[in-house]
Amino acid sequence: MVLEGLRRLEYRGYDSAGVAVLTGADGGGIASAKKAGKLSNLLGELEQHPLPNSRTGIGHTRWATHGGPTDVNAHPHLADDDRLALIHNGIIENFSELKSVLLEKGVTFRSATDTEVAAALLGDEYQAAVDVPAAQRLTVAMQRACQKLEGAFTLLAIHADLPDVVVAARRNSPLVVGLGEGENFLGSDVSGFIDYTRRAVELGQDQIVTITPDAVEITDFFGAPAEGKEYQVDWDAAAAEKDGFPSFMEKEIHEQPRAVAETLLGRTDAEGRLVLDELRIDPEQLKQVNKIIVLACGTSAYAGQVAKYAIEHWCRIPTEVELSHEFRYRDPIVDSNTLVISISQSGETMDTLMAVRYAREQGAKTLAICNTNGSTIPRESDAVLYTHAGPEIAVASTKAFLAQITAAYLLGLYLAQLRGNKFQGEIKDLLADLHKTPDKIQSVLDNEQQIRDLAVAMKDTKSVLFLGRHVGFPVAMEGALKLKELAYIHAEGFAAGELKHGPIALIEEGQPVFVVVPSPNGRDSLHAKVVSNIQEIRARGAKTIVIAEEGDEAVREFAEQVFYIPATPTLLAPLLTTVPLQIFACALASAKGYDVDQPRNLAKSVTVE
Ligand code: G6P
Repeated sequence: MVLEGLRRLEYRGYDSAGVAVLTGADGGGIASAKKAGKLSNLLGELEQHPLPNSRTGIGHTRWATHGGPTDVNAHPHLADDDRLALIHNGIIENFSELKSVLLEKGVTFRSATDTEVAAALLGDEYQAAVDVPAAQRLTVAMQRACQKLEGAFTLLAIHADLPDVVVAARRNSPLVVGLGEGENFLGSDVSGFIDYTRRAVELGQDQIVTITPDAVEITDFFGAPAEGKEYQVDWDAAAAEKDGFPSFMEKEIHEQPRAVAETLLGRTDAEGRLVLDELRIDPEQLKQVNKIIVLACGTSAYAGQVAKYAIEHWCRIPTEVELSHEFRYRDPIVDSNTLVISISQSGETMDTLMAVRYAREQGAKTLAICNTNGSTIPRESDAVLYTHAGPEIAVASTKAFLAQITAAYLLGLYLAQLRGNKFQGEIKDLLADLHKTPDKIQSVLDNEQQIRDLAVAMKDTKSVLFLGRHVGFPVAMEGALKLKELAYIHAEGFAAGELKHGPIALIEEGQPVFVVVPSPNGRDSLHAKVVSNIQEIRARGAKTIVIAEEGDEAVREFAEQVFYIPATPTLLAPLLTTVPLQIFACALASAKGYDVDQPRNLAKSVTVE
């Protein structure tokens, strides 16, 4: 069961894996195994050296922070004469001070990790807690250890003295409880136990939970009883399976029409007015907002850039987009009339969480666009708008990205409605256009073969450039990011207008350049400008691959290849133009034989700063 859970959670980190189980009800011990590399390495090891049967176990997949990805540094780490096993997600910031104290006490360390220090500290506290009845000893030791730990951590521990008990703690890192019948579970997210139960409990900050087959007890770090919040997971194990696709990424790319449709579902009342029920910010306060800051990382930050174009155009509110990790350190101007919108698929990205906390401290209203129910960022925000993309397993984000953009459009239109920036009829028309996009995405997917063939033909390419303008600019950057993440190819996304100010020097004979062309029926002279940009690079030898709207014949003569997408209003185009770029990166990386679901060095949810 533990290994199956790890398989489902492996996307979160995959440079090493390990398990530990309690052996025997009385006088038993702990058996463990751990291996560098993907989970399959651990499975191979366990096939050769199986662990004894057990009813209680913990397991971990790692994304290395302190100490490289080796067998020894993999979790679990053992302490208390190997009678205690501990796994950890996060970073212990004061590990070196703690380690000095423990070294003085004669503790020896086998690994270079901060986790082993936490294990040794817990072992030390366990030994010291002789006054505590045996059944509560590990829980109390965990409380006392957590009082001394600084940083971000989810910890899970078992002790050979307590056959049916797992004790866990969380600060700033994710942890959920799964409630079963005569069995209970813990996981970084619900996919770890979704095969067994859909009843989950979200824990608060700085809480300890002790589970046995029949009980779940929650306290704070000082032993005071605490409560978690129970909720029902609205998807099942099948949603976390590949469904016949060769990879999760392929599956998720093909789920995009549904991800967008479900994110749009149920957002209007009988009169067609937008109602965003989950928004818990007083409408009067939203009317006072005079500045918006969007915070996110990675692909989610590109969704934020698309959001900026839409929100500023529809609501006339100045909107900045900032990478979460840069935000706090530049002394940003934030007050109670600032609305901070965070965008995060996982809801656990530490950089974004910290930025949201900072914004709240400065008095801003915070709103999370998030795909993961019960995760930390929405819980710590004033309001949340959930995307309904379903579980996203592939590390490189696809369907969550389109769902985030969709949610940002809904939010933009809602603010415009609330503040009277747009007539109700205009909002209705835009919503109608949005509701047409799932079918249009499907038609892009139906024509994917052309882009797949191109990807295979280009599999030995060393560098690819992406150009876009207006909302096509973040799409170009997302196209480049996908190629970097999946195919490890040098790729760069530029604003097409910026080309002549420098990047055009990169163009030489045969350089592949993707160009995202805006609709010829869109605003101003954008289309004509981009067509000129294509000519400029073509004249210098570039191999131009153009994404353009159906019927746009003007681009044909300057393009090596044209991929046509259905006509759609300019602002909504990213929901369509992104798709061929995702397919391109995925197909090219697959042609190179790479694992598209778990690219090297990455992790799906980065819970360290
Ligand atoms: C990681 C992932 C990216 C993702 C980013 C933001 O770096 O590899 O795919 O876009 O985190 O994640 P979030 O969960 O906050 O959207």
